Amino acid sequence: MDFNLGEEHRLLQEQVRRFAVNELAPQAPRLDETGDYPRETVSKLAEQGMLGVLVPEEYGGAEMDFTSLTILVEEVSRACASHGVILAVHNSLVTYPLLLYGTEEQKKKYLPQLCSGKRIGAFALTEPDAGSDAAGVKTIATKDGDHWVLNGSKIFITNGEAAGLFLVTAKTDPSKGHSGITAFLVERETPGFEIGRHENLMGMRGTGNVPLSFQDARVPAENVLGQVNQGFPLIMSLLDSSRIDIAAQALGIAQASLDAAVAYSKQRVQFGKPIWRHEMVQDMLARMAVQVDAARLLVYRASWLKDSGAERCTKEASIAKLFASEAAVEVSRLAVQILGGYGYSRDYPVERYYREAKVTEIYEGTSQIQKIVIARQLTR
Ligand code: CAA
Repeated sequence: MDFNLGEEHRLLQEQVRRFAVNELAPQAPRLDETGDYPRETVSKLAEQGMLGVLVPEEYGGAEMDFTSLTILVEEVSRACASHGVILAVHNSLVTYPLLLYGTEEQKKKYLPQLCSGKRIGAFALTEPDAGSDAAGVKTIATKDGDHWVLNGSKIFITNGEAAGLFLVTAKTDPSKGHSGITAFLVERETPGFEIGRHENLMGMRGTGNVPLSFQDARVPAENVLGQVNQGFPLIMSLLDSSRIDIAAQALGIAQASLDAAVAYSKQRVQFGKPIWRHEMVQDMLARMAVQVDAARLLVYRASWLKDSGAERCTKEASIAKLFASEAAVEVSRLAVQILGGYGYSRDYPVERYYREAKVTEIYEGTSQIQKIVIARQLTR
């Protein structure tokens, strides 16, 4: 057993870390302040091959593995969490499903555009009345000749503001519950498809998060992804791997919080000595380090499993996401505590880490949903 990254992964980590520190970290406070979508740096991510991580070279991708994607999301999120989730959704919830379930025509048409950043990908599952209950979607698609006509709405769609291609779930046979849902590839230009106003979020504010509406939006029948009425298991299996990304993102935020707390504790002097010499601060630093280390082991175990070709990684992905997201909230909370009044000030990044960490316990399945998934896997 070897807990070190191999040579290729280590070089990738160094390269991404350098890029993230130089190009992404300086932008994070501005994105948080303005809520702007970082179009320019997303183009730079494309130049680095980061928008087609899993895609074979023949379609314009970088043809890397899941561990590479995990490294990328961790390092990018450590510098700027908004960029982390932009990458995660684009790679795991749009390009990867196209690769897995797309027809050759769909792959040839969309993958090069996604890898080059010509079209950013967005994933549209959540609705005003269907969050944890993913099968409860009310958006409906009705067949009309060689098109499907979509009506309904979606909310909290990451990347939506800038995306050119949306993976949308809709009911195609409402009488059949889980077995009546289909996944569609919807282009931004589709008549009847509207992108709403930017959501005013607590954190992850530079992610172009918007609601969507469909009013008689006509989608060509060839844009069904996978089989009609087979969309629910397709989406669930995608979430298995994309939850590893969110766990990696939480790990990146937790690591950034620990880094900030350690640096501050060495230079802040109280009662005549640097605060790290006070035992209660040592207690907090040690607890934070344990959480970060344990999260890292679970996150990389899950991506290793995915790379090993295992049929499913449902349980391991949910365990990693549950643990890493709760660790990120706790570690960033303790970082605020160690920085005290400065930690609560916007002049330091840790209050942002705390706000950003919180959503990792919510999106791509709340902690409560992860527990349901884990318990069901244990008792199968
Ligand atoms: N892989 C393959 N198939 C699966 C599966 C998986 N991981 N999980 C379930 N299925 C299949 C089941 O086998 C079952 O098939 P059969 O009917 O043939 O037996 C079918 O799907 C129904 O499964 P369940 O009975 O388990 O379904 P459920 O209604 O109880 O829901 C749930 C399960 C886990 C609670 C699910 O609804 C869920 O994950 N909810 C959370 C939603 C979520 O994660 N949303 C994320 C939004 S995207 C986002 O957040 C992106 C972003 O902004 C960053």
